Amino acid sequence: MTDLTYLRVLGASAGGGFPQWNCNCANCRGVRANQPGLTPRTQSSVAWSRNRQDWLLFNASPDILTQLRAQPALQPARSLRDTGIAAVVLMDAQIDHVTGLLMLRERGTPLPLHATPEVLGDIGSGFPITSILGHYCGVQTHPLPLDGTPARWNFLETAHMDPLALSSKPPPYSPYRHAPRPGDNIGVTLVNERTGRRLFYAPGLAEISPAVWQAMQAADVVLVDGTFWTDDEMIRLELSKKRGLDMGHLPQSGPGGMLEHLKRLPSTTRKVLIHINNTNPILRDDGPERAELTAAGVEVSFDGMEIAF
Ligand code: MLT
Ligand code: MN
Ligand code: ZN
Repeated sequence: MTDLTYLRVLGASAGGGFPQWNCNCANCRGVRANQPGLTPRTQSSVAWSRNRQDWLLFNASPDILTQLRAQPALQPARSLRDTGIAAVVLMDAQIDHVTGLLMLRERGTPLPLHATPEVLGDIGSGFPITSILGHYCGVQTHPLPLDGTPARWNFLETAHMDPLALSSKPPPYSPYRHAPRPGDNIGVTLVNERTGRRLFYAPGLAEISPAVWQAMQAADVVLVDGTFWTDDEMIRLELSKKRGLDMGHLPQSGPGGMLEHLKRLPSTTRKVLIHINNTNPILRDDGPERAELTAAGVEVSFDGMEIAF
């Protein structure tokens, strides 16, 4: 076995997926028509492993069953009933990150679930997934402390996760939607102690706070919020009245945007966007926005992408 760990992208899209079931924007129409340069993507989830048999799942998307079928590594088939999902970490309580938990109800043992007390509160009451699962496999909840304590799992051996509170938004159904708390959203640094390499993962970032910037600078790979190209993307397409920032997502382009920050990172840092909304022009492999990213050394993630570190 090598010293590497593996991060697998199960779903590179934001909530709704690509194409989104009810959307006929140019991107969604194009991908439905198999237009060259457009590739479907499922909803936001990644998994991390050392042995490629036992995985730490980040987020459980509504597309989880499709994702598991597409990724045989997550079904190692060591016994009659088996799964490669050893535990789940939630980045927030958004629908696109938690609904898939219900699809895991046939497990034989309670599902180990790691999330902040704020997220566990939202999915215990407003959208009571953990109580519903109590009638099926059950859930073993582990509140994630945000005090700098690293989180560890035996199956990851000499690797750990450092969670970081982010400034973003809890989901629309949360009683705290308009009064966000630290812990509603987290980013995580995944550390492989054997190689000393670090990956920073944050699919929802409203702001590059000093702590986030520090984590990005310390990382060898950043896998960050790629939801919108422009802040008014949904408004311009007349799909919503909300700006990206109202939804807790910093756009890529423009002053203070994600791209400006990514360009300030060392050229040796691998820079990858994830949680890409179906309206985002960077989904076009041959478009000018993608060319701008490529020139800046920034990659756009896709389902099945694997990052070894
Ligand atoms: C978000 O991150 O804002 C979403 O993708 C929301 C959703 O899942 O509806
Ligand atoms: Mn989302
Ligand atoms: Zn669309």
